[in-house]
This record gives sequence, C-alpha cells and structure tokens, in this order.
Amino acid sequence: MTVTIVGSQLGDEGKGGIVDLYGDAVDIVVRYQGGDNAGHTVVEGDEEYKLSLVPSGAIRGKVGLLGNGCVVNPRTLFDEIDGLRDRGLDPDVRVAQRAHAILPYHRVLDGIEEEAKSDSDLEAGTTGRGIGPTYEDKVGRRGIRIGDLLDPDVLRERLEYVVPYNRAIVEDIYGMEAGEEFDVDALFEEFSEYGRRLRENDMAVNAGEFIQSRLDDDENVMFEGAQGTSIDIDHGIYPYVTSSNPTAGGACTGTGIGPTTIGQGEIIGIVKAYLSRVGTGPLPTELKGDEESEDLAHYIREEGGEYGTVTGRPRRVGWLDMPMLRHATRASGFTGLAVNHLDVLAGLDEVNVGHSYTLDGEEVFTMPPTTERWGDCEPNLRTFDGWPEVDWEATAAEGYEAIPENAREYLDYISEELDTPIYAVGVGPNRSETIVLERPFDR
Ligand code: IMP
Repeated sequence: MTVTIVGSQLGDEGKGGIVDLYGDAVDIVVRYQGGDNAGHTVVEGDEEYKLSLVPSGAIRGKVGLLGNGCVVNPRTLFDEIDGLRDRGLDPDVRVAQRAHAILPYHRVLDGIEEEAKSDSDLEAGTTGRGIGPTYEDKVGRRGIRIGDLLDPDVLRERLEYVVPYNRAIVEDIYGMEAGEEFDVDALFEEFSEYGRRLRENDMAVNAGEFIQSRLDDDENVMFEGAQGTSIDIDHGIYPYVTSSNPTAGGACTGTGIGPTTIGQGEIIGIVKAYLSRVGTGPLPTELKGDEESEDLAHYIREEGGEYGTVTGRPRRVGWLDMPMLRHATRASGFTGLAVNHLDVLAGLDEVNVGHSYTLDGEEVFTMPPTTERWGDCEPNLRTFDGWPEVDWEATAAEGYEAIPENAREYLDYISEELDTPIYAVGVGPNRSETIVLERPFDR
C-alpha cells in the first residue's frame, strides 16, 4: 500500500519525523517534488542527521527514491551520501531519470531574480538553491534531466543550448557578468562525472516502473512531500511560493504512479500546532505588532527552534490558521492528521487559533484565491486555555489520554473542524516523543 505525507501549512511541519515514525513498515520512501530547499532533521539515539535531499528513510536502511517531480542538485546529493558514509551508513538512494538536475547557474539566476524583485516586494524569500530557475528550464523544455547526465553526447548537446540561453539572461537582461557557473566545458566535465557515478552505482531509475514493481510485490511505499500546501505553486500564496506541488496530486505526477493507486492508500496531513514561516508575504495570524505578540512569537520561536534548517533564518510565527487547514484538507484529501510541536505551546496561559477570517465584513472559512485578498483577511480568534509543561516522553509512553486535558481539547477541535482523525501527535523531536493513534501500514 501507499501512504502519502503532505505538509498542510507553510513547510517545516515536522514531516520527516512522521515519515520516520511509520518508517519501519516501509520498503521505499519516495520524494515527489522539490529539491535541496527542503530540510529535515532525523534524530536516532544521540545522533542527529540534517538532510535536504536524501529521503529520511534512507538512513534506516530503506530505499530512498527521488521522483521525477524533484529537482536534484547532484553536488548536494553526493555530498550528503558521502557525509552519511563517513558516519558509517550506507544509504540506498535512487534518482528518477526523468528528474531535472539543478546546475550551478540555477543558483546564480535564483539570487539575481530575487534581488531584482526586492524593489517591488515580490521576492519569495527563496532558499537560494536554484529551485525556481530549474523548474523554469523544465517547463521551458530546455532543462537537463538526470537521464541526460548518463549520456555524454546528450549532455553536451543540452548544455550547448541552455547555458548560452541562461548566460544571455544574466548579461543581456540584467547587465551582469556571467561567471564560471556558465562555462560549458567545466559543467560538462563535472556533470558527466556525476552521470558516471550514478550509472556505476545503479542509482538512476525509471521511477514509475521501479515503484510499481515494488507495489506489485506487496511492498509498502511512502510518498514524502516536501514544503507545504500554502507554498504550493498552484494552491499556495502565489507568488510567495515554491515552484512545485507539495499537495497530494504532486505524488502522482512526481512519481509516475496514478491517482487511483495513491487514492487507495492513506494521505496524511502534517500540521504544526501553530504557524511558522520563512520567507515573505502576508500571514493573517502572525504574532507581531505589539510587545505582547512579539514576546509570544519570541517565546515560541525559541521553544520550537524556529530557525530555517537550510538557511538558519529566524522564522515568523503565528497562531494556527484553520482556513489554511481547511484549504489543505480539501486540496489533498487527507485521510488522517499528524499534529506536531504540541509541547512547544505548553506553559502559555492561553492558546489562540484563527478559526475563520473576516473579509469585507463577511465571515469566511477558507483561504481566498489571491494572496492580496488573503492579506486583507482579519482572523477571528478562538481562545483555548493553556496546558502545562509535563514530562512529554512519559506522556507519549502512556498514550493519548495522558495528554493534558486542555491540549486534548485543542486537538479534538482541529480534528472535528477538519472532519479528519488524528493519527499521531508529536510532543518532542524524538521518535519516543510521538503519540501514535494509528499505524496505517499495519492495518
Ligand atoms: P524556493 O523553494 O527556494 O524557491 O523558495 C520559495 C519559497 O518557499 C520561499 O518562501 C521559501 O522560504 C519557501 N520554502 C522553500 N522550501 C521550504 C521548506 O522546506 N520549508 C519552508 N519553506 C520553504
């Protein structure tokens, strides 16, 4: 069967921990979109692994596959694999031949465009990893795919078209000097070497076929979305979005497995118990503007370690936004929820939730389709009594009923509003700090 993991908010909901939680029963973990803009931390005993490309299951001996919907920077990929090998692991990572490669010039273009947009406040606050420009080349039908790296003749032919094209953008449109990142010979040398390594290690695969043959053998497949619904290129707060589809539909187009198969499995929405955001754009439930709110934001940021995994930037913080979650639940069709970081809110007197918005004097329950209108929304808050700090590991060991009553009320509210059961509750970063109500692969 399949389980698809989807971020229901703005990314950084703790998806990696949930993938890991159900990981024992999984044979393959498949990423279906994004690239090294994602960051996940997996804690195993005293060891902490910070990964951006290698799927988290791969550190536990599972096959990790990067699907065709991903954009793959081979430099990052091999750095991560080599780093894990140095720590005594032997990750089995495969890459779809249809996935697109991020080349060094994509990062340069990412930086230039963000800078150019900043005058008009249109910059997305990207991670600078070249994600957008790589997807642009993909959709513009001039990208370089992982399969192209395997064939030197094809690679050279592609480079000879796309590099001058992108060089012209830098030089003729932005009037800047294009550096060594635009040197066809150097790129050919470096990237054909990655191709050789991919081929020798049997890493480049036909993803759809690879996954389907495992499903035919009754193996369990986890589809791991990166980022979150509200930064989805179609369903997010455009233009402050990433350039791919974290929503569940992306699991189909990004792997080559049809919606009928994925729809027969489970689709789990990962919810952080509050909101955090790197990057720009409106955020109606943001904690800011007065001293009390700023203090609360500071408290939650510190308690929750709300600093970007990839960039280290401090994240903006807000209350849980229910219209955002209703939108996410519909767009991906969640069958279950995992609510993370409940412990971070412990110790507050009161916990607020944006239950709905007021827009033009009307109460609305889901996100408006334009970001500007979303920015016009005033949240209608609901207040819950706070819950105390407890020994969360002991609570997790005892189970759901051991969660402080006020926190359970908060969870029940979320579940009822979204008409979706809660499968897991995260109360700390370790596996032993998650309360598991459902194990979808074991049914
Ligand atoms: P990009 O994906 O680097 O192009 O960045 C586009 C937008 O998505 C920016 O607002 C980033 O901050 C945001 N973003 C990208 N990846 C992540 C992530 O893994 N977590 C949270 N936000 C992300």
